[in-house]
Amino acid sequence: MHARTWLLAAMALTLPAGCDDPTPPMGDPGETDAATEGGGSEAGDGSTGGEATDGSDGSQDGSSDDTAGESTGDGPSDGYPPEVEEVLDLPWPPYDYDEPLPAHFQAPPVQGMDNTPSDNEITDAGATLGRVLFYDRTLSANHTISCSSCHGQANGFTDTATFSEGFDGGLTGRNSMSIANARFYAPGHFFWDERADTLEDQVLMPIQNEVEMGLTLEELVDRVSAQPYYPALFEDAFGDPDVDTQRISWALAQFVRSISSYRSPWDEGIEAGGTPGGPFPNYSAQENRGKDVFFGPGRCAVCHLGQPGPPPPPGAPLPNVAIFMLNEAANNGLDAALVNDDNGLGDVTGDPGLNGVFKSPSLRNVELTAPYMHDGRFSTLREVIDHYDSGVEDHPNLDPRLRAPDGSPQRLNLSEADKDALEAFLRTLTDDALIEDPRFSDPFRE
Ligand code: HEC
Ligand code: HEC
Repeated sequence: MHARTWLLAAMALTLPAGCDDPTPPMGDPGETDAATEGGGSEAGDGSTGGEATDGSDGSQDGSSDDTAGESTGDGPSDGYPPEVEEVLDLPWPPYDYDEPLPAHFQAPPVQGMDNTPSDNEITDAGATLGRVLFYDRTLSANHTISCSSCHGQANGFTDTATFSEGFDGGLTGRNSMSIANARFYAPGHFFWDERADTLEDQVLMPIQNEVEMGLTLEELVDRVSAQPYYPALFEDAFGDPDVDTQRISWALAQFVRSISSYRSPWDEGIEAGGTPGGPFPNYSAQENRGKDVFFGPGRCAVCHLGQPGPPPPPGAPLPNVAIFMLNEAANNGLDAALVNDDNGLGDVTGDPGLNGVFKSPSLRNVELTAPYMHDGRFSTLREVIDHYDSGVEDHPNLDPRLRAPDGSPQRLNLSEADKDALEAFLRTLTDDALIEDPRFSDPFRE
């Protein structure tokens, strides 16, 4: 209420009567913080964290021009009002959340995996609002946790628990998933069992989950509407300060989709002209050996470097060298038969042919996302590798790619040196620039 009153008063001051220009009001020009932000003082922050502010001048307008639907993505021209400045450390102009990804992400097959819907393209103002919502503990029943509690930037946007603790100490039924590159999953479904049809649906589910955040959608809208820092952020993102669940969902989804991992040693190798078939100049001998295992005898790439269509014949160039995501959910032989508590897509769809079938998050940053699998059963990468080497179970739905030619579960018989090398290779998927990128960090001042 207070915020709305402020907003209307300020609109009256800045806009001629009857003008429907959505340009929101600016902060009190006498307010030191706001004035400094307007002067671009955040350039320092941006340069520390890499290219965060690169090209953000002006380019944010270009990237939001094509925005469909209700969202405008156009920010106010002169910075944030004091209500925002007091609580949030946001740069002005906003960070660039839709900067072009490197060439290996631009290949048409890779772009074809992008699940961004045409009515919710990423805008800088939309993702900025999503960032604030993602870190806002107001979104849990007792104000104790936010999305980031279980999807922490330092842990590759996941957490270190087998099952995560919700607002009231209850535990989730599955391991938290890394959300980096979630945008590039062609089926577009979310959660280990894919029960969310779209990311826009998914982002409202933890908020309503009784264990996780514990709010009704009505309470959510009330909570968000009551915070004085939101009207200006909604106005920037959507053209007016109205709060509703769809806008909350859109903004959160934009922020999640903006979390792209593209600056790991793997990416440097590809950008230096490396190919999956040959050694990378920036890799150690052991990392290159592990890369050979990943693509060759370890047979990891056939699933985890999802290729559109059937796998290309050996030696043919891979259409996707960017997205370490499955093509679709699969059974990777964790259990021999039906389990009591969790059969993944089988439970959701009622199709016995999908029992034990699960989605996997991206393998990027896997060094930081332990423990592993939907139930967090493996606490180290070595345990994961040992599973694929000698532990694959003969489930009726076991993926054929994990079977030997005679139909039995694969036994890779990797040497200890090969396992060490594979582990070293998996660590080259760690993207330190993402982990330190201020665009994805906690914007709250206290
Ligand atoms: C209490 C811990 C917790 C909180 C809080 C939480 N999550 Fe999650 N998140 C999880 C767990 C656990 C899963 C996997 C659940 C499953 O598959 O059943 C998950 C899965 C996801 C996925 C699916 C990723 C994929 O590739 O399918 C996304 C996206 C996500 N969370 C985003 C969010 C957002 C946005 C918020 C805040 C609105 C949030 N999470 C809050 C624990 C949490
Ligand atoms: C048949 C396709 C397939 C193959 C081949 C495969 N995986 Fe997986 N992988 C999966 C699936 C499906 C999951 C998720 C399973 C679950 O949790 O129920 C997964 C999960 C993982 C995870 C855990 C991810 C996380 O965030 O918890 C890691 C790590 C992993 N695989 C590494 C590998 C490595 C290394 C290889 C090669 C030795 C490999 N995978 C081969 C399908 C495959």
